[in-house]
Amino acid sequence: MPSRTSSSINHIAVVGSGLMGTGIAQIGLEAGIHVVLVGRSEEKCQKAVATIRMGVTRATKKRIPDNQEALTEKVNNLMSLLTTTTSLEQGVRNAEVVLEAVIENLKVKQNLLEEIEQFVRNDCLLVTNTSSFLLSDVAAKVTHRERFAGMHFFNPVPVMKLVEVVRTAHTSDYTYETLMELCHRLSKKPVSSKDTSGFIVNRLLIPYLMEAVRMVERGDATKEDIDVAMKLGAGHPMGPFEIIDFVGLDTIKFIMDEWHQRYPQSTSFQPSATLDKLVADGSLGRKTGQARPGRQIDSPRANPDHQKTPCSSPSRDNRLSSYCGMHVSQLSELTQRINATLTDLDADGQRQLFVTIMSALYVTTAVLVVLLYVCLIYVYGSSSVASPSIWTSKLQTLLEHHRHLNDLIKRDPYDRRTTIC
Ligand SMILES: NC(=O)c1ccc[n+]([C@@H]2O[C@H](COP(=O)([O-])OP(=O)(O)OC[C@H]3O[C@@H](n4cnc5c(N)ncnc54)[C@H](O)[C@@H]3O)[C@@H](O)[C@H]2O)c1
Repeated sequence: MPSRTSSSINHIAVVGSGLMGTGIAQIGLEAGIHVVLVGRSEEKCQKAVATIRMGVTRATKKRIPDNQEALTEKVNNLMSLLTTTTSLEQGVRNAEVVLEAVIENLKVKQNLLEEIEQFVRNDCLLVTNTSSFLLSDVAAKVTHRERFAGMHFFNPVPVMKLVEVVRTAHTSDYTYETLMELCHRLSKKPVSSKDTSGFIVNRLLIPYLMEAVRMVERGDATKEDIDVAMKLGAGHPMGPFEIIDFVGLDTIKFIMDEWHQRYPQSTSFQPSATLDKLVADGSLGRKTGQARPGRQIDSPRANPDHQKTPCSSPSRDNRLSSYCGMHVSQLSELTQRINATLTDLDADGQRQLFVTIMSALYVTTAVLVVLLYVCLIYVYGSSSVASPSIWTSKLQTLLEHHRHLNDLIKRDPYDRRTTIC
């Protein structure tokens, strides 16, 4: 076996210029490793370079906050370690490790690895970043399986500390140990997993998310209460429906369908009719503009209030208070959208302007709520207006959203992102 260790790895190739490929390339550069990024077109490569530069700048700025000249020099030095190409052969031929991060499609991955193997050095390690396939399937056309393993990074790669290092029955100790060390070099915490569906994180997380959907389908609880319960009761940073919206309903369905097909008897891997219908209708979560946690997933039984409101004839008091409640819940949705939008606004100036406008909007709405209340008392008399405690609670909700907005703004954009897969 070669005596090389990860500390002597100087060249890696990343195949795939999407979300994960660019993230992996970025942390490779930051570790001082030469990275060749293989993209499908020149345009995709250029876009990837811009994304990586932005990521490297953001990370470097944390270490060198006040010295623009030193920052620029450091970023340029790191970026000089990056090359891009649309030629797979050129991209992988000098690499010591090739990481594939292309679309989650088994045939594409199998064919790609077969092709890569024709061009690489005979000591090159082959790595897949698949999130849902068994490595034994991905490696169906790989000849040197002792040099093949999985490194399951998490999104966003520069932020998420974990890498699941997955070995098959054929992976050599040398390959496994080199990749574990490489993780440390990339400033990641590796955990090791056998080649089993979903590895560790997704194997536990996906059935949990699906069970949350089933709870709503059965009418056990509302999605809002489930999210609150898991955040406040279990200390999770996001509720299951927030995660589902963030990851995308289609991704969850895709993974669940795979597993259901493989293990049809398992109760943990049963599909959900609600999820299937929503995906068929094109409601995929945040990526299709639905920003409220799991807003698409609902069951009439789960939320009796939603059933009553449109059919009954509410009193004027109820109408007034629900009018105000509507504003507050719109603001709640707005907060979620702000969260999403802030993630995408990279330039500080842009973010600052956006934040100022949103803060002004919150303050204006709070003032309007108070004025509305005063006018209603004046016109109808205090007895016909919903009780002050209801209004106070609505104002409190509004202020809570504003506080939440401030929290979001203070955090680094990446810290607002958390995901799986
Ligand atoms: N997004 C996540 O949260 C996440 C997390 C962990 C692992 N992964 C895994 O990482 C891999 C990449 O995911 P991503 O989120 O970066 O996806 P992405 O859609 O952002 O990028 C996919 C890349 O694959 C390329 N591609 C598409 N079709 C191709 C084909 N036929 N041949 C070759 N390349 C092709 C695209 O040009 C793009 O560069 C997948 O295996 C995914 O399961 C994703």
